[in-house]
Formats: sequence, C-alpha cells, structure tokens
Amino acid sequence: MIPEDMPELMRAVTIREHGAPEVLTIDYVPAPVPSHGQILIRVAFAGVNRPDALQRAGQYAPPPDASPLPGLECAGHVAAVGPGVTRWKIGDPVCALLPGGGYATHVVTQADHALPIPEGVSLAEAAGLPETCFTVWSNMVMRGGLVAGERFLVHGGSSGIGTTAIQIADALGARVFATAGSDEKCEACADLGAEAVNYRDSDFVEVLRAVGGADVILDMVGGDYLPRNLRALADDGRLVQIAFLQGAKVELNMAEVMTRRLTITGSTLRPQSTLQKARIAKEVYRHVWPMVAAGHLRPVMDSTYSMDDAAKAHARMESSAHIGKIVLEMPGD
Ligand SMILES: NC(=O)c1ccc[n+]([C@@H]2O[C@H](COP(=O)([O-])OP(=O)(O)OC[C@H]3O[C@@H](n4cnc5c(N)ncnc54)[C@H](OP(=O)(O)O)[C@@H]3O)[C@@H](O)[C@H]2O)c1
Repeated sequence: MIPEDMPELMRAVTIREHGAPEVLTIDYVPAPVPSHGQILIRVAFAGVNRPDALQRAGQYAPPPDASPLPGLECAGHVAAVGPGVTRWKIGDPVCALLPGGGYATHVVTQADHALPIPEGVSLAEAAGLPETCFTVWSNMVMRGGLVAGERFLVHGGSSGIGTTAIQIADALGARVFATAGSDEKCEACADLGAEAVNYRDSDFVEVLRAVGGADVILDMVGGDYLPRNLRALADDGRLVQIAFLQGAKVELNMAEVMTRRLTITGSTLRPQSTLQKARIAKEVYRHVWPMVAAGHLRPVMDSTYSMDDAAKAHARMESSAHIGKIVLEMPGD
C-alpha cells in the first residue's frame, strides 16, 4: 500500500565524485517506490560501515541493480508496502539490511531483509545491527562453523564487525580472542568478553599457538596476516576472510593447508542473491535476536552524526579512532 501523500523527492547523501569524505553532498533525489515484495522505510538512523567509505573512494562499486547511494543498513518505520507484502504494515518499527541507499530519508528494501527492533534497543542502536550481524553470523557460523567450546579469533576487534563478533562468539560459548591497535581498544574488547591482543606489541600467532591454535579466525586485514593466520590456526581450523585492508595478494604455503586440513573461505554480503540474504535474515532472527533480548549482545555505539555531517562520520571511520558503530541521524518530517 502506497500512501497518497508520499513525497516525490527525498533528501539523500550522494557521492558527487569519488574522493575524500568532502565529496559527500546533500541532494534532493526521487524517492524510491517499493515494488513486489519490498517495503519503503522512513529512515530514522543509518549505520555507517567501512564499505560505504570504500564506495565513496571508488574502491567498491555497488552491484548494477543496487542504489548508487551509500548506506547498507538502517532503522526507522515502514512508510509503504509493495504488492505481496503481508509481514509488515505502515508504521511498524524495523531495522533492515539494504542493497544501498540508507543515507537518505527514505529507502526501499526486500520485506524479508527487515527485522523487528529487538526489545530494549533504541532506533539508533538498531541501525547498526543488520550489516554487522548478517556479516558476522553468515561468515563466523554459517561458513566458519564456529561452535561452543572452540577457540575463535577476530582481527579488528574494536570495529563494528569486531565488537559484534566478540559478543556473538562469547554467547555461543566459544573462547574468544581479539586483536586491536591500542590499549584503549583492547580494553573495550576485553569488556565484551575477549582475551585481547594489542598487535603493536604482541604477536597474535604466538598467543594463539600457546593455547593450541584458533579453530576459526574472522579476518578483515589480509596482506601478511594471511600466512600468519594459517600458523595461528589449530589443525582443521577455518580462516574466514571478509576484507583485505592490507591487500589481497600474498604468497601462501598450501602444503600447510593440506597437511593440517585447514579451510580458507570468505564472502561479501552485498552481491549475494536476495534469497540468500533472506535466509541469513531468518538465521539472524532465530539465533542472534534472542542474544540481544537476553542482553548477551549489546550494540557498541561510538558516535551519532547528523545527515548533514556525513563527511565527518566518514572521516571518523577512516581515522580508525572509533570503537564500535557510527550512525547517521536523518532529519524528521
Ligand atoms: N565481507 C563482508 O560482507 C563485509 C561486510 C561488512 C564489512 N566488511 C569489512 O569488515 C571490515 C570491518 O568493517 P567495519 O564497518 O566494522 O569497519 P571499521 O569499524 O572501520 O573497522 C575496521 C578496523 O580495522 C582496523 N584496521 C583499519 N585499517 C587497518 C589496516 N590497514 N590494517 C589492519 N587493521 C586495520 C581498525 O582497527 P585497529 O585500529 O585495531 O587496527 C578498525 O577498527 C571492513 O574492512 C569492511 O570492509 C565486510
């Protein structure tokens, strides 16, 4: 159902050209209309993620059928429902995974990529849940196969992804290790349940080997971490790669993979089919939402910026000074 008073134009953060955070500009652009199986969300808050900054810089092109606007997750209220949607009605509070376009007052997504706001969680906090929870669950558990009693290592432990991975792995009953680049960040990781390693003054390979190796490693760094990750894995260990902040091309000793029965895998969320993302949404709702309700998973919030200050939000993310999630607040009606 599309209300008659739907605006034809909406305010959005657009990428004027690829470059530094200052290329982010506020524009009026046509508001999207939900088609079959989709909902329109009036965005209250949008999560800011590293891939948004990569997209802005020209290093991560959106899939051809996705909105060219940045923004992979949001929280807000359903403003219209497309044909065939029965799960949501206008006014429902939701948070959702988006194919793009979250940095705007309105955004369209698949109805089955939206989830209810978990009890006790604010809209600002909920805006930072979908991209990280979908990424962490699908990679750490669905690909990496982490189960209770195993040892788990996440790099970038204080990032949006890292803080979520620590808490979910801890709630699953794993022994959790995390690396981070300062004592303050390590303290934040420890507060969430991880044994933290400051990679500037300790070698995570030695730390992990001393306890028998990691069964699963979630890595976003790549580069020379790849061979080091293999050494830090226990026999039959699984390395799950979700980004390559230090480069994707490395030399590996594959004999180690074979003789120690290691698995190297990875994925990116955005280009996956809408069906696969709906499957992940179901798993997240079934397994992760109860962790939020039980207080085992709390979104770690770094800062909130107004939509007009999207460039400042990106600069903060790229400074890597943040701990947890950065969100953008959209203006009210
Ligand atoms: N595959 C997927 O589907 C998917 C989905 C979402 C995000 N991601 C990726 O996951 C990563 C985390 O995302 P996020 O939104 O949580 O980002 P974020 O909060 O900005 O986290 C990035 C973290 O990586 C560390 N870091 C930054 N540059 C580094 C470098 N050159 N070498 C080593 N460490 C570095 C920083 O921590 P320290 O100061 O401790 O080094 C920072 O906290 C990003 O790379 C993102 O692209 C992948």
